[in-house]
Amino acid sequence: MIGQADSSVPPMLALAPMQDVTDLAFMRTLTRIHCLPDFWMTPYFRSTRTTCAMSEGPLRCIVENPAGIPVWAQLAGSTAVALLRDAEALMQLPVAGINLNVGCPSPLVNRHGAGAGLLRKLPLLREIALALRAQLPPGAWSVKCRIGWERAEEFSRVLDALCDSHPDMLIVHARTRKQRYAGEPCRAAVRLAVQHARCPVFANGDIQSMDDAGEWLQTVQPAGLMIGRGLVRNPYLLRQLRGGSAATPGEMQEYYATLLEETGRFLERYTPSGHCNRMKKYLAFCYRDFPTEAEYKLRRCIDPSEMGRLLQLSRAGFSAS
Ligand SMILES: Cc1cc2nc3c(=O)[nH]c(=O)nc-3n(C[C@H](O)[C@H](O)[C@H](O)COP(=O)(O)O)c2cc1C
Repeated sequence: MIGQADSSVPPMLALAPMQDVTDLAFMRTLTRIHCLPDFWMTPYFRSTRTTCAMSEGPLRCIVENPAGIPVWAQLAGSTAVALLRDAEALMQLPVAGINLNVGCPSPLVNRHGAGAGLLRKLPLLREIALALRAQLPPGAWSVKCRIGWERAEEFSRVLDALCDSHPDMLIVHARTRKQRYAGEPCRAAVRLAVQHARCPVFANGDIQSMDDAGEWLQTVQPAGLMIGRGLVRNPYLLRQLRGGSAATPGEMQEYYATLLEETGRFLERYTPSGHCNRMKKYLAFCYRDFPTEAEYKLRRCIDPSEMGRLLQLSRAGFSAS
């Protein structure tokens, strides 16, 4: 089973792409606090017939890649012609390869047949996958998919459509489009991918702790784990997964302070409330670690200095007046 982990080798660890969250500010923060995944993946570039998809946010993740670790460029689209055109353009940049998004559940994206919409058109998905495979060099073609549109039983056919193109890496968000971001991830589906795909398979979906990761590794034995919300909440999980120590309260304070600083650097037009609103995109995945009183204040905060103070106090035992 090539998609499976060699149990003597630690699993590969990847940061999941998250539009407006795993951006350059977040990448720079992880670099500064020395919590690095084995590779990054950009949030998706939208590929349409008429538009070249070079949106600035994901593009900066590539050209200003702070840590020099590989970065994959992700494309979301529904026509082979546009995807090939944009894949070719992106391959001129310093990327590890191209990843096709077969999971985005946005109604707007799906209405155009892209993201998870491709799960409803498997012949088209197969055609696109084969075309990208033919164009991309060895090692540079990968897919990130959900396990079906409505039901996990769809996944074996999805897998067939994808595996015909021999991807170099497969990342499975173990949920259907119907489940969006909640509900139990289906381990059996990822196990199926590990058994059938002839490439490294990454498991993705609600890995928030060492216990979650351990369960995936024991029951599914993927070659790697891709983690999104869990790393925004606690980037030091990467260190723990590599056998290191858990985050101390001081390190979490440093993380929040660094993120606040980096976030402020990347606003198009700086306003204090805009800065706080940007921070709240990340904090949405962190509030559960704060006392209710702190969450209440953070959600309403419009002053970055006050936000910084609340974040520091909160982790040290919240008692802000
Ligand atoms: C706000 C947000 C934005 C996302 N943007 C993308 C994206 O651009 N491309 C993609 O493949 N997945 C995207 N995802 C899905 C994540 O990559 C990941 O598959 C999902 O959150 C489950 O993993 P997690 O539980 O570790 O976060 C997004 C998820 C969230 C919550």
